[in-house]
Amino acid sequence: MNGKEEIKRKVAIESVKLIKDGQIVGLGTGSTAKYMIDELGRRVREEGLQILGIPTSLWTSKRAKKNKIPLTTLDEHPKLDIAIDGADQVDPELNLIKGLGGALTREKIIDTAAEELVIIIDESKLVEKLGVNQVVPIEIIPIALAPVIEKLRKLGGKTKVRSVKDTGDLFMTDNGNYIVDVAFGAITNGKILETKINIIPGVVENGLFIGVTKIVFVGYKNRVDRIEKK
Ligand code: 5RP
Repeated sequence: MNGKEEIKRKVAIESVKLIKDGQIVGLGTGSTAKYMIDELGRRVREEGLQILGIPTSLWTSKRAKKNKIPLTTLDEHPKLDIAIDGADQVDPELNLIKGLGGALTREKIIDTAAEELVIIIDESKLVEKLGVNQVVPIEIIPIALAPVIEKLRKLGGKTKVRSVKDTGDLFMTDNGNYIVDVAFGAITNGKILETKINIIPGVVENGLFIGVTKIVFVGYKNRVDRIEKK
């Protein structure tokens, strides 16, 4: 395992120590969340930890099943105790950009239904300002693609419809929608931008997660820090 993967694994393991018996746990998506799912599975199998997971993507669902983590749904449990997820950028106020993995809509639904959202990242994700050298992924209903792109450009964004690297086909989310990655540059008011994007007809959700987490675990080469917002 290379250095970066080892950092992701360690930060994920640290976060799973927070999980207690009886909890309903939101399971994030991505290459860091993968280690969290594996560690949670280990605790379920080896320590007899009793939890129910709610996956934020089909990929996570498969990985959780492989790990023998019992799963439930938002219909059964509309309120979760905790969710653990990755992020693409985290600013000093613990606002986030998420969605490079394309699971932003289910992530926002499940992560914000949790009493506590814990974010796990390596230090490269820490930034002074969201949006610098980072796109905001936006999920869009297919028939609305062209008019939504026009409106996103009017908001000052440079748009790129996401495609699948190998085939060139348009990327499709678990919900059957497209993703447009939008470069806005430095974002000064994330809450206002989040709202302006989400009121465009045809937009399902966007990757700005503003004011939704109070705990971030950050992995460095030789340590894991826990940042908390008061
Ligand atoms: C998926 C996400 C991921 O959590 C985010 O992209 C971080 O992933 P990784 O841990 O692989 O860097 O938002 O939609």
